[in-house]
Amino acid sequence: MNMALRNHARTLATSALKQHLSKGTISVLSARSSSWWSHVEMGPPDAILGVTEAFKKDTNPNKMNLGVGAYRDDDGKPYVLPSVRKAEDIVRSKNLDKEYLGITGLPEFHKASATLAFGENHEVLQSKRNITVQGISGTGSLRIGANFLSKFYAGPKDVWQPTPTWGNHVPITKHAGMEVKNYRYYDPKTCGFDAAGAFEDISKIPEKSIILLHACAHNPTGVDPKPEQWKEMSKIIKSRNLFVFFDMAYQGFASGDIDKDAAAVRMFVEDGHNIALSQSYAKNMGLYGERVGGFTIVCESEEEAKRVESQLKIIIRPMYSNPPISGPRIASTILNTPELRSQWLTEVKGMADRIISMREQLVANLKKEGSTRNWQHIIDQIGMFCFTGLTPDQVAKITKDFSVYLTKDGRISVAGISSKNNAYLAHAIHEVTK
Ligand code: LMR
Repeated sequence: MNMALRNHARTLATSALKQHLSKGTISVLSARSSSWWSHVEMGPPDAILGVTEAFKKDTNPNKMNLGVGAYRDDDGKPYVLPSVRKAEDIVRSKNLDKEYLGITGLPEFHKASATLAFGENHEVLQSKRNITVQGISGTGSLRIGANFLSKFYAGPKDVWQPTPTWGNHVPITKHAGMEVKNYRYYDPKTCGFDAAGAFEDISKIPEKSIILLHACAHNPTGVDPKPEQWKEMSKIIKSRNLFVFFDMAYQGFASGDIDKDAAAVRMFVEDGHNIALSQSYAKNMGLYGERVGGFTIVCESEEEAKRVESQLKIIIRPMYSNPPISGPRIASTILNTPELRSQWLTEVKGMADRIISMREQLVANLKKEGSTRNWQHIIDQIGMFCFTGLTPDQVAKITKDFSVYLTKDGRISVAGISSKNNAYLAHAIHEVTK
């Protein structure tokens, strides 16, 4: 291009720009160049779900994801329970519509879920003094409860939680506008329950506060109080007049027995605590992505339960209007169909038993590796998780050197181990702890 042409092109471009500016295009341009969100900082990845993100990027064929609590079969594959498949067939064969559910969800699910928690023909159910609503799995159910307590609870709005507790308990409480306080629970020296510490701390909680209890298979430690220790806690909690909020995300998954796993909840109700209860069907029915859960408040009377229900509706409606329909149809079909229910109970037990056997194999394999450390807690702890006692540095090393992914606190999801990679895991643990 010669000089004259170049100058001509420049003149044309300048006059086009002038025309645009005169038409007010400048305001559009400047709006585009400045952002509404420049002040938004990059947040940290989720402590649990972020582990899966990192795992997915790893190309090591031996990699293991022991982060999130999601059951795998002995081939390391996600497991859809055969009873769930059957329930899906039954639901499909009914050609049901997909209209909105009511704000509180599917009525047949409410009854079935409360019955699973309290037991058949329980006094609470017979006197209709419970209000049970459908929640979006465990998290959603806890959130309904937290929002209700934040709005209506008359005592101090501090929720006392065990140290440690499930990572999501803290933001659920805080986002609902309440404060988190802690009581001692886990003893790192014994990798077991710190009964004396818990009893002492709980006995000092200001009267009428709220206390959060994990009903069974404590997450992240896998450490549960023994029945007589639950009894003592119930007594102390009664004497402090605390309001009890149970999180029951693993009914059936801890021991393989739904009644045994609900024993603490039932004992507290028996002892006269009018509790709140969150239930999840993610683990015990493998309905993770279906988001099936329940939230219950045990009230003084049927009339009180009706008033509480009316307010729960007012809380739920602006959050998500009404809950999804497919998951609770599956869950209630299982719970309300006797043959399917007994098949499901066998399958839950199968999952619990596989986890227990992975614990035993892991300890045996650690011994074979030559580890002289005491790993008994791996067997003594219960449910999906084991709090290994690995330090943050050891966690970083096992991930870097062996592509074994777990949360920084040293928790492993035992459900993610199979008989094929158990020895590999034992080798990796031994290498970073010897
Ligand atoms: C876990 O603790 O891994 C599970 O409860 C899944 C979750 O949502 O964190």
